[in-house]
Amino acid sequence: MKSGAYIKAEQKVCAPNYRPLPVVLEQGKGAWVTDVEGRQYLDMMSAYSAVSHGHAHPELYQILCGQAQKLTLTSRAFYTTGIAPLLKRLISLSGLEMGLLMNTGAEAVETAIKAARRWGYQVKNIPDNQAEIIVAAGNFHGRTTTVISFSSEPDYKKDFGPLTPGFKEIPFGDSKALEKAITPHTCAFLVEPIQGEGGIIIPPQGWLKEVAEICRHHQVLLILDEIQTGLCRTGSFFAFQHEGVVPDGLILGKALGGGILPLSAFLSHREVLSLMTPGSHGSTFGGNPLACAVGLKALEILERDRLAEKAMTFGNKIKAFLYSLDFPCIKEIRGEGLLIGLELDPAIVTAHDVCIALMKRGILTKETHETVIRLAPPLIIEEKDLDDALQTLQEVLREFSKTK
Ligand SMILES: Cc1ncc(COP(=O)(O)O)c(C=O)c1O
Repeated sequence: MKSGAYIKAEQKVCAPNYRPLPVVLEQGKGAWVTDVEGRQYLDMMSAYSAVSHGHAHPELYQILCGQAQKLTLTSRAFYTTGIAPLLKRLISLSGLEMGLLMNTGAEAVETAIKAARRWGYQVKNIPDNQAEIIVAAGNFHGRTTTVISFSSEPDYKKDFGPLTPGFKEIPFGDSKALEKAITPHTCAFLVEPIQGEGGIIIPPQGWLKEVAEICRHHQVLLILDEIQTGLCRTGSFFAFQHEGVVPDGLILGKALGGGILPLSAFLSHREVLSLMTPGSHGSTFGGNPLACAVGLKALEILERDRLAEKAMTFGNKIKAFLYSLDFPCIKEIRGEGLLIGLELDPAIVTAHDVCIALMKRGILTKETHETVIRLAPPLIIEEKDLDDALQTLQEVLREFSKTK
């Protein structure tokens, strides 16, 4: 069957909630994927930063197969051997004290919201049902009904109401606005250190430090969603380490599952997470032995192979290259480590058109919003492949600049 037939078949039965590029992928190895016609593509977006280890990492594959033969799922009705080692590692890496494992990122965000509200009622003595969580404009934290309730994208919410109350929006990167928005009912500030889906938006330097101080001063939990920025993606193990703060809550996902399984976590202080009681929260697959085994190995590889340093070096290389280009279609270059956004001038070219042109030349990435191209390859990408991709990107941008 050819790609056109696969695309038609999928479109017939699958809800059209995505707009995929017209390529049908069948295999992946390292930073490369292959389509059903046998064409190879360099993966420059790694499943929205989830495939940091590359496709089919041999050590992850080995752990996956070994654990699959031992034990995969029991639910949390029983104790298993994988949760403690994984959480111990996450706690030690993050500087927090306890964790709760879930599957998708959105579930871990939901977990954080529930934990923060419970802490607000039981520790901060907020009156019943009045807890507020402050969020940033342009946020992306997932797609559940509660999470979209505080999205600033009208399309994410349209016809999905009634929405969940209890959220207050402030501009991203504005610490004064945060201080002003806090009331005695505020239990948490939930924010991404760098907004990924919002267009790879970098806050002003020093903002996170100020935010941490404001939160501490007002007894508000600072909860960082590092589902996209965590686990070496931005050039340090967690993005918060760029500013030397430790949050009160940390949400992880994506690359935690090694690009193989959904695995997410909410980490926090004992004071917060010990308030969870049997029956208050749960998930059948959350913390399953298969995901825990893969997750622990995924962390080990990130540390051992110094992928944070590599992300920083390669990210700086990409940015230096992009800054050296002088094309009218380039409006702005933003990013940290291997999470880079190239903002284009929509009057000259759309990000989607550039993604299609790159695809035709063997490079896969996807736009975020209409105008930003995401450059976020697997962290294991080879330097030579990255150099070739940058040359191709230069050619594509040159062509689009000529046609105007
Ligand atoms: C910062 C952030 N939070 C939450 C999510 C949601 O994760 P998931 O798609 O696994 O539910 C994403 C996904 O892109 C994300 O980037």
